[in-house]
Amino acid sequence: MITTNMNVVAGLDIGTSKVSIVIARVQQKTLEVIGVSSVACNGIKKGAVVNIEATTEAIKKAREEAELMSGVKISSAWAGVSASHVSSFNSTGMVAIRDKEVRRDDVERVVEAAQAVAIKEDRELLHVLPQTFIVDSQSSIRDPIGMSGVRLEVGAHLVAANSMTLINLRKCAYKANLQINGFILETLAAAEAVLSNDEKDLGVAVVDIGAASSDIIIYQNGSVVFSCVVPVGGAHLTHDISIGLRTPATNAEEIKIKFGAAMANLITDNDVIEVASVGGRSARSVSRSSLAEVIEPRAEEIITLIHDAIRKSGYADMLGAGVVLTGGASQLEGMAELAEYIIEMPVRKACALNIMGLKEVVNSPSYATVLGLILLGSEKQKNTPAMAKATTFIEKIKNEISQLF
Ligand SMILES: Nc1ncnc2c1ncn2[C@@H]1O[C@H](COP(=O)(O)OP(=O)(O)OP(=O)(O)O)[C@@H](O)[C@H]1O
Ligand SMILES: [Mg+2]
Repeated sequence: MITTNMNVVAGLDIGTSKVSIVIARVQQKTLEVIGVSSVACNGIKKGAVVNIEATTEAIKKAREEAELMSGVKISSAWAGVSASHVSSFNSTGMVAIRDKEVRRDDVERVVEAAQAVAIKEDRELLHVLPQTFIVDSQSSIRDPIGMSGVRLEVGAHLVAANSMTLINLRKCAYKANLQINGFILETLAAAEAVLSNDEKDLGVAVVDIGAASSDIIIYQNGSVVFSCVVPVGGAHLTHDISIGLRTPATNAEEIKIKFGAAMANLITDNDVIEVASVGGRSARSVSRSSLAEVIEPRAEEIITLIHDAIRKSGYADMLGAGVVLTGGASQLEGMAELAEYIIEMPVRKACALNIMGLKEVVNSPSYATVLGLILLGSEKQKNTPAMAKATTFIEKIKNEISQLF
């Protein structure tokens, strides 16, 4: 077995319903997937660890399976952080341009100035995402390097994560023999995997409908301008089916995936499905349209809450490329159609773009986040100077050791 090298990168998505690890060779923006594993995990609730042992075991199993499939041993991975455990806001920074012409270090200083905001003690700054620059009175500049002026300003989207959430995730990975290279906001990763640059430029909202939550990120003029989380997802649909059809949760999950639909009027067949009962009672027959009638009100509620969040962001009228749905629950039959009807904008369902290798295995919106983690992680890896990498690595080891004892 060979070990990870420069262009072999691993992503670790610790979602509410499963832990996924993907190993890929990275060439620019294309991923050649060589190892994939997804392991069910009940140690996570809404993106936070609630059971260290169960989460550690799931990461370990996922790592071993992905390694076996790829023939590559991984020692580290880029991990995702759920939007439920971050706070995000916009900030600005301003500096004097040193030599009357903007250089790289002026840009670095102004981005640093935008970070100079009070962040709560229990938070760790995860991302500073520059939006547009202003040189003197000229605004809406994407790349100010080489421009003449005396004053440089930047608008940036800042994302800060709950430190304890990060410590617990790092602890579980460490116990499963996996170093965390760094944490990346899951929605940012999912968006990176599924969006084209044109969509980012035109204005687009990406909604990752997972098990516990639906995470939203909005792009305008190529940059992130807004992100938030709506605390409902696929698990709520399963719960309603379980109650509505009086069937155990595992059966409700299976029925939802195989026969569920978000809109009852989409069901044209009269197919009848066998539904297991609880308490030793015999199974019952239910029509697909009755199942859809149980699902529809909750699906409508999820989409309505997503719509409200997009409206409240203030960017609803600027989404030229509409809404892109991803995440496992976006696969529910009729979900995109329902979203298009309620949100009144073009809606498309999306999986990751530019994938090679085990493409068929990861061809599901459930894998968008982990594939995006690899894309963004490898970019960060490339941009980190060797000395900084060594220092960060030593700091991480120190942190991990101090957290464990
Ligand atoms: N074909 C399908 N049809 C309908 N729902 C599906 C389908 N496949 C998966 N789901 C649902 O998608 C959800 C899991 O999606 P995903 O893997 O994106 O979530 P997660 O990352 O584990 O959770 P979260 O992002 O909320 O932490 C589950 O509720 C599951 O039932
Ligand atoms: Mg997820």
